[in-house]
Amino acid sequence: MIYGERKGLSEAIIDKMHKKADNMNMEDESKDKILSEILDFRERHVDSAMNETRCRQAEETLIHVLDKLEKTMENVVYAMAKIVEMRDPYTASHQQRVSTLACTIARDMGLSEEQIDGINMAAVIHDIGKIGIPAEILSKPGRWTEYEYSMSKTHPKVGYEILKSIDFPWPIAQTVLQHHERMDGSGYPHGLSGEEILLEARILAVADVVEAMASHRPYRPSLGINRALEEISEKKGILYEARVVDSCLRILTKERSDKF
Ligand SMILES: [Fe+2]
Repeated sequence: MIYGERKGLSEAIIDKMHKKADNMNMEDESKDKILSEILDFRERHVDSAMNETRCRQAEETLIHVLDKLEKTMENVVYAMAKIVEMRDPYTASHQQRVSTLACTIARDMGLSEEQIDGINMAAVIHDIGKIGIPAEILSKPGRWTEYEYSMSKTHPKVGYEILKSIDFPWPIAQTVLQHHERMDGSGYPHGLSGEEILLEARILAVADVVEAMASHRPYRPSLGINRALEEISEKKGILYEARVVDSCLRILTKERSDKF
């Protein structure tokens, strides 16, 4: 890699660029190109100690701007979550609990803090597409009709349409789109399978199912945490990614044993 062999660019900038590029699933070739352009700029313009100082100041400003941009992105996501909460408090608290569990799983699996930030962001708005479903359907006690069910299945795509034009430093729109995909290809909306599904979405899928089964829903009482854990154990490697299930079982079993 070019940037590893050339000098002059501060390590903090290289590190920051790497993390951003990795989160955006940027190709190595594109990373090289951007860093190479910054290095070329330095070589052309840094010809005195004074310019060197200015360049370092510019790099520090760039880091500051990137951090600020990330904070703004987070605030946009929390503002969106607030909109969901005002219309549908049940979905809002579900999203919050799914986020807590998904981030704990991600940490247990050894994902980077940057990736965990992305999972947190995607999880707190993963059902934002339900904004397109009439509130009477969402809060309806009893079973949904076939039409109501097919309508509810549009929410990952609607969520994706809402989020796709925001240039997040994490794959949030794709994670939201894929959170009902299943490892054997039986999920929706696109019937993706295995590693075609983003790891973030595979983690979100397990946290979502466990939280949904363990909680009370307008159309049924809670099925209980034991039933939820049975479900992911039975379908491990079939519907749900095995490593994610193992991690989730480890966390929740430990959590319960810590309580007693
Ligand atoms: Fe969902």
